Amino acid sequence: MSNSEVIPDEQDSTTIRNWVRFHLWDQVPVRIAVIGRDYKILEANRAFTDSYGDWADRTCYSVYKGRTKHCSTCNAADSFVDGQTRVREELGLVTDGQQTSYLVRVVPIVQPDGSIPYIIEMSTDITATKILEKEKLEAERLAVVGQTVAGLAHGVKNLLMGLDGGMYMARSGIEKGNPERLAEGWEVLEDAAARITFFVKEFLEFSKGRTPTVVLADPNEPAHQVVEMFVESARLAGIHLEADLQPEIAPAFMDPDGIHTCLTNLVSNAIDACETSETGGRNVKLSTREEGGVITYQVADDGTGMEYDVKKKIFTNFFSTKASGKGTGLGLLTTSKIVQEHGGKVSFESTKGKGSVFSLIFPRNRLPLPLDEETEERCPLNDPAPN
Ligand SMILES: Nc1ncnc2c1ncn2[C@@H]1O[C@H](COP(=O)(O)OP(=O)(O)OP(=O)(O)O)[C@@H](O)[C@H]1O
Ligand SMILES: [Mg+2]
Repeated sequence: MSNSEVIPDEQDSTTIRNWVRFHLWDQVPVRIAVIGRDYKILEANRAFTDSYGDWADRTCYSVYKGRTKHCSTCNAADSFVDGQTRVREELGLVTDGQQTSYLVRVVPIVQPDGSIPYIIEMSTDITATKILEKEKLEAERLAVVGQTVAGLAHGVKNLLMGLDGGMYMARSGIEKGNPERLAEGWEVLEDAAARITFFVKEFLEFSKGRTPTVVLADPNEPAHQVVEMFVESARLAGIHLEADLQPEIAPAFMDPDGIHTCLTNLVSNAIDACETSETGGRNVKLSTREEGGVITYQVADDGTGMEYDVKKKIFTNFFSTKASGKGTGLGLLTTSKIVQEHGGKVSFESTKGKGSVFSLIFPRNRLPLPLDEETEERCPLNDPAPN
C-alpha cells in the first residue's frame, strides 16, 4: 500500500457505507419495486419510476400491464406462498412503448416468524443482449445457408452423376430392346431422384428456419411420441429402444414440435450408432428428469461412440460420417439451434466403442414465454406493459 492512501477510520467507513446505501437505491441501473401482499407497489427507485411512470398507490398489475384484475399466473404470488426467490427472463413494454426484455429477480422478504409481507422485484434491461443474441443466431444461420449452397451444389452434382448413369442404362435398354437393362437403369434413376429429394428437403427445412410456437406443454409428451415413432423400426433392426420418463414433471413453456425434432435427431443418431456398432451395442434409452428447476432430456446408446476427431466436428454444418443420402450432417446443428431458442444447452459424452449420451438441458427460468397478445393471460411480473 502506498503512503498516499488513506485508511478510513471506523466512523468514516460507516459514513461511506450509509452514503453508498442511500445513493445506491436511486443510482443503480436496475428497476426496483417493493410490492405488498395486496400487490400494491409500496416503494420504487428512480430507474423504475423513469421506466413505468407514476406508481404511487397502484397495484403491480395496473402499473405493468394496465389491468384492473390480478393475473392468473404470477411469480410474485408463488413467492408469497413458498418464500422462494425466482429469476426469469421477461418481455414487456415501458412507458415509451418500446418492447423490452429483462431479467427479473423476485425476492420475498421472509420475517423471523415465517411470514412474507413484501416482495422486492429487481429487473435489469437485457434488450440489447437479446437483440445481439438473435442477430448472432440469424448471422450463423445465414452463414450456414451460404456455405450450404456450395455444399448443396456439390452433393447434387454427385447425385446427378447417378442420374446420368441411370439415364444411359435406361436409354440403351430401350434401344437394344433389353427390358432387364431398362429396369436396372430405372432403379438407378429412382434411387438418385429419392436421394436428391431427401437432400434438398432437409436443406430447405433447415435454411428457412422456423419460429417456435411456445405453449404450456407436458415435457414428457414429445419424448413419449418419439419413442412410439421409433420403437418398431428399432426392434426390426434388433435394437431395444426404451423410455424412462419421470412421471411428475410439471407442464413447461416450450415448443413441443421443436423438442420433438431435437429428440428425433438424437434417437435416430443413437439407432444409427447401434446399427453400425462393431461391438454389438443394441440399446437406446430416452429419459426425462427434472431437478432443481432444470428439465433434462437424455438419449443414451451403447453403439459405436465417437473418437476425438469426430467429437470436435459434430455440431459443424454438413459434418456427417454417414453414407451420402443417409445423413446430411444437419441433425445436431438443427438440434442445438432449437435448444438455444429454449434458453437451454446440448451436452454430450462419448467413448469410442462404448457409446454416447446426449443431454438437452433446459433451466425452467430460461424457457421462452408464449406470445399471446389477445388473451393477456401473462403475469404482470412476466410481462410488464405501460400504464
Ligand atoms: N449417438 C451417436 N453415436 C455416434 N456418433 C454420433 C452420434 N450422434 C451423432 N454422431 C456423429 O455425429 C455426426 C453428425 O450428426 P448429425 O445428426 O448432425 O448428422 P447425421 O446424423 O450424420 O445426418 P442428419 O442430418 O441426417 O442427422 C454423425 O454423422 C455421427 O458421426
Ligand atoms: Mg443425425
